[in-house]
Amino acid sequence: MEKKDRMAPLKWWQKAVFYQIYPRSFADGNGDGIGDFIGMTERLDYLADLGIDAIWISPHFPSPQFDVGYDVSDYVGVAPEYGTLDDFKRFLDGAHQRGIRVILDLVLNHTSHLHQWFIESCSSRDHPRRDWYIWRDGKNGGPPNNWNSPFGGSAWKYDETTDQYYYHYFLTEQPDLNWRNPEVKKAMWEAVRFWLDLGVDGYRLDAIGTIFENPAMPDHPCKMTQEEMRRALNHGFPDGSDKKVGTLWKSMYGEQYEQEGVHELMQELRAVIDEYPDRVLVGENDDVKYYGDGSNELHMVFNFPLMKTERITAPWVQANQKERLASLPPGAWPCNTLNNHDTSRLLNRYGDGQHDDAIARTSLALMLTLRGTPFLYNGEEIGMSDYRLPDISFFRDPPAVWFYNGEISSGTSPETALLLAADDSRDRCRTPMPWSNVVNAGFSPEGVTTWLPVNPNYAKGINVADQRDHPESMLNFYKRMLRIRKQTPALINGDYTPLHETAENYFAFLRHSDDPEQTCLVVLNLSDKALTLKFELQGGAARGLFSSHKPGSETVRLGVLELAPFEIYIAELIS
Ligand code: GLC
Repeated sequence: MEKKDRMAPLKWWQKAVFYQIYPRSFADGNGDGIGDFIGMTERLDYLADLGIDAIWISPHFPSPQFDVGYDVSDYVGVAPEYGTLDDFKRFLDGAHQRGIRVILDLVLNHTSHLHQWFIESCSSRDHPRRDWYIWRDGKNGGPPNNWNSPFGGSAWKYDETTDQYYYHYFLTEQPDLNWRNPEVKKAMWEAVRFWLDLGVDGYRLDAIGTIFENPAMPDHPCKMTQEEMRRALNHGFPDGSDKKVGTLWKSMYGEQYEQEGVHELMQELRAVIDEYPDRVLVGENDDVKYYGDGSNELHMVFNFPLMKTERITAPWVQANQKERLASLPPGAWPCNTLNNHDTSRLLNRYGDGQHDDAIARTSLALMLTLRGTPFLYNGEEIGMSDYRLPDISFFRDPPAVWFYNGEISSGTSPETALLLAADDSRDRCRTPMPWSNVVNAGFSPEGVTTWLPVNPNYAKGINVADQRDHPESMLNFYKRMLRIRKQTPALINGDYTPLHETAENYFAFLRHSDDPEQTCLVVLNLSDKALTLKFELQGGAARGLFSSHKPGSETVRLGVLELAPFEIYIAELIS
């Protein structure tokens, strides 16, 4: 089966490298401190030159922005601060003219509380839209059950007008849709078709795991309060163990995610998408069940387990690949990422404080050489790092404000609470893209207050303009590696064979493609030590395709390979 799949011609999304744009922070075209479509369109040449093939845009729809666009108030519009539908179309056309595909972010679980659907749903118990959301009577003078929202507090919000509670997994401003109501599906599939008709290439599906809850709505059995759990997750458990995190989380929130019905729903959505040629669905979930039988559900789900570590080590990646690739149904295509708008940037996440730049480079090499489609996040190509906001008034991420308030009410000093919250806040990775070394990092004109402060390290070379002309910059490294991937079929469609599986310091593997016939050796030295490695491979010789340290395409005997600290080495085997 594996062999047959490999020979099948690949779809565009299997060959593509995706690049996530966080629209509020990418490029401010009209100088109001907020990114927009005019800005994004102006930067398409930059993206084409970088060498990415597809863009995922985080939500661009009208929204009151309680969760920076993940609270949608109109699924068929464009947020006015991002531009008009025509601006969107110009962006889409411009991307397509450059051979870049565009996928949108589809938030299915919930809408904004200001969506017309919810406003009507709230208006009376008899309104035809009442049942579009999840309403329940209270119990014993309180909410219907003890469920919480991981964004803070009860998952229920009382509505005085109709004397009932509505359910929200995320913020109170994000009421959950009732997906058991066929009218909800119908309305959402219409919105899905609206953008597909305009020519968008697919969707990244937000928070699919929480679309359904246990309909019996039993109380959760967790003995901890939510605040105790938050503290344990952020400060560690009193006994020093953190092994219980997954189990604990499940005991509190387990009735609220991965419930019956979600796979049938995703299959229905797949059928909608399949009415259009060549579109793609990527799920924000790591459960391989979402691949269905490999052809009837989502095209890809993220390999999040790979990124859930403090260090990218060889044993970690070996184990991840072994498990992940074996778990995929036949025909399913892997999808890897180390970065997005919800997590600490990879430089901080995996850096050791001493070799961050080198670690960022080996991390990119890993993304671009593992089997599967890589997703990159805007700004990583210039080595953007997290920015810890210096004042609580700058915070835009509501769970971080909840975190801060929790710390304050449990007696933590404001200074410490700020540091802790800034470290945890998703704002840290959402700061504006630094385009040049001028005030406001060239994101917005001087004198404009940007929606989140720019990271001051733009003045230390973390900006596009300064890196463009530096051959050794992170930006040029990204360009080189993206080019190598594009030119090397085995890195795109090849199968994966691990080598030296017990190695601690380096990660080595082969990628082999039958059509065209090519075998590549990839060796990533993930340590700060020089290494001398022995490879006994067929033919015994290789032509270097890429090295972060050695000069270009030399032919080497593979018996002994000398690697510099953190060297990335890719070679084509010669038989
Ligand atoms: C997803 C998004 C995240 C958002 C949440 C609720 O996890 O990635 O940013 O807050 O869903 O929509």
